[in-house]
Amino acid sequence: MQEIRIAVAGFGTVGQGVYKHLLQNRALLQQRLGIRFAVHGIAVRNLRRKRSVKVPRSLLTQDWKSLVEDPRVNIVVELFGGCGEARKLILAALRKGKSVVTANKALLAEHGEEIFEATARYRAKIYFEASVAGGVPIIKALREGLIVNRFQHIYGILNGTCNYILSKMSHGGVSFEDALKDAQKGGYAEANPAFDIDGIDAAHKVAILASLSNGFLMPFSKVYIEGIRSITPLDIQFAHQLGYEIKLLGIIRNENGLSARVHPVLIPRSHILAAVDGVYNAIVVRGDVVGDAMFYGRGAGADATASAVIADISEAGLDRLYSTEMRPLLGAKPAQTKIKSIDEVVSRYYLRLSVVDRPGVLAAIASVLARKKIGISSVIQPEGHEGKAVPLILMIHDAKYRDMRRALQGIMRLPSVRGRPMLLRVEDLS
Ligand code: HSE
Repeated sequence: MQEIRIAVAGFGTVGQGVYKHLLQNRALLQQRLGIRFAVHGIAVRNLRRKRSVKVPRSLLTQDWKSLVEDPRVNIVVELFGGCGEARKLILAALRKGKSVVTANKALLAEHGEEIFEATARYRAKIYFEASVAGGVPIIKALREGLIVNRFQHIYGILNGTCNYILSKMSHGGVSFEDALKDAQKGGYAEANPAFDIDGIDAAHKVAILASLSNGFLMPFSKVYIEGIRSITPLDIQFAHQLGYEIKLLGIIRNENGLSARVHPVLIPRSHILAAVDGVYNAIVVRGDVVGDAMFYGRGAGADATASAVIADISEAGLDRLYSTEMRPLLGAKPAQTKIKSIDEVVSRYYLRLSVVDRPGVLAAIASVLARKKIGISSVIQPEGHEGKAVPLILMIHDAKYRDMRRALQGIMRLPSVRGRPMLLRVEDLS
């Protein structure tokens, strides 16, 4: 039986999960693939750190360079994360013709061009199933199972930490801070949780999905990003009253141009994505041939991510065994697609204002909106006391963001409008 030797770089939550399951299901992999995988070495930053899996001391090294360049190593699994050492390590491995397996969405989204150029130059291969939605095989689905489709839209709950926080706020009345602490305890949040709650982690995943589904490298700088820090329990309560749930979605839409964005959205409570709770990820894809397809599962955590990493190790092993050439990642010729700026994107809106309850306030707000030809579809104003500040919720018909943004600037100049407004997009997902 063919033996394939693996170097693992990074031995945190995911690295330990990969090691554990490679050993635990070794016989199954041998039976299914005809390959015996052997871990040749594990590069770590700290040799003494306590770990939850037992590993022979002789496998650990702090010298990733020698490990990665060792001629006996066939596959390098990069789990350092980030764009510093990880970038150098992947380039070094590709230069030596090794196959690289990575979960590093930040690196692929922000340095994809350099990495993919290196794969072509050195005729080396890279696999990155675990970079998007953890254990959910969405990369293989887009590149293989759905290859014949043009994608009209992809909607995804792509960040488990944000989904956990919003679910807790929606169902448990838990504060944003407490829900975040819980998610961190569960090992789902990024080392820097700002990456999660400010939408950056989801945006890295959107850049990868947008690239694969549209045949060109989506520049990360063109992904519009808003996070969930400013969502309040009051907004969740009003969203429920109106029949919606608030979710952080990654959205890729082809409609007179491509828009790729991450922001909180009100979605109907009856939609299947509204029922996706906790750390789970879900992705709804609409293809012109398949119609609608949905993928659901654990988007983070040691075991789910290990499942995706080991799927890539297996594919890399088979590719080496059968000397398969790497097929073009994005097709031979990049498609020419116009990328829309967020200002051009049309949607409905939820607008929460704090206004002084006095005659003429609503009329003044409606007239600012009307000047931009923006219509109001419904209004909620809890009964208050005349002359006191009250929340005013407006549901707004389809409008370009540029018009909505400018109208909001006008509204905020009205003397009866106080405090910070909350503007959220509304998607019916149909
Ligand atoms: N921090 C990410 C999440 C995990 O919460 O979904 C992996 O990307």
